[in-house]
Amino acid sequence: MGLYLLGLTDLLLTVIFPVMPALKRNLKVSKPILRKTLKHSVLYWNNPQQIAALNPPFDFAVATDFVYIRESVPSLVSAMETLVYDNGVVLLGYRLRSPEAHELFWELCERVFHVEKVPHEHLHPDYAYEETDVYLLGKKNKKQ
Ligand SMILES: C[S@@+](CC[C@H](N)C(=O)[O-])C[C@H]1O[C@@H](n2cnc3c(N)ncnc32)[C@H](O)[C@@H]1O
Repeated sequence: MGLYLLGLTDLLLTVIFPVMPALKRNLKVSKPILRKTLKHSVLYWNNPQQIAALNPPFDFAVATDFVYIRESVPSLVSAMETLVYDNGVVLLGYRLRSPEAHELFWELCERVFHVEKVPHEHLHPDYAYEETDVYLLGKKNKKQ
């Protein structure tokens, strides 16, 4: 929603099914500020039908605080690859939550993406946290 207020107006928000009621509540509370209800959808990274139904690819995929279950990591990285154009960007707000998931996530990411860490001094001082990093990922193998 913050990205929408910054001008990224063609947005689709995704969450897993149990989180959808909370997202809907947030959208409702935010409607007076946003002046619209943003598009939203249930998405599980391991569900190719749900991914296809979003009609990818997109210019950007943005994910924050989402790497904590090792078993989910392969489908997550695969979904990230499918969701953006070959010249698209995956923007991550990342903090270490599970060492096992962390290790596999970056191993798989390095295979698929060029990984660029945004220097902390480039982050807004009001929103930057010591323990949170921001990464920009671009695809290595460009097919489209
Ligand atoms: C800790 S919350 C972070 C929420 C939000 N990105 C934030 O930073 O406040 C983790 C989010 O990852 C998403 N997630 C977790 N496992 C997922 C999966 N297997 N497939 C798709 N999304 C998943 C859920 O929708 C959940 O809201």
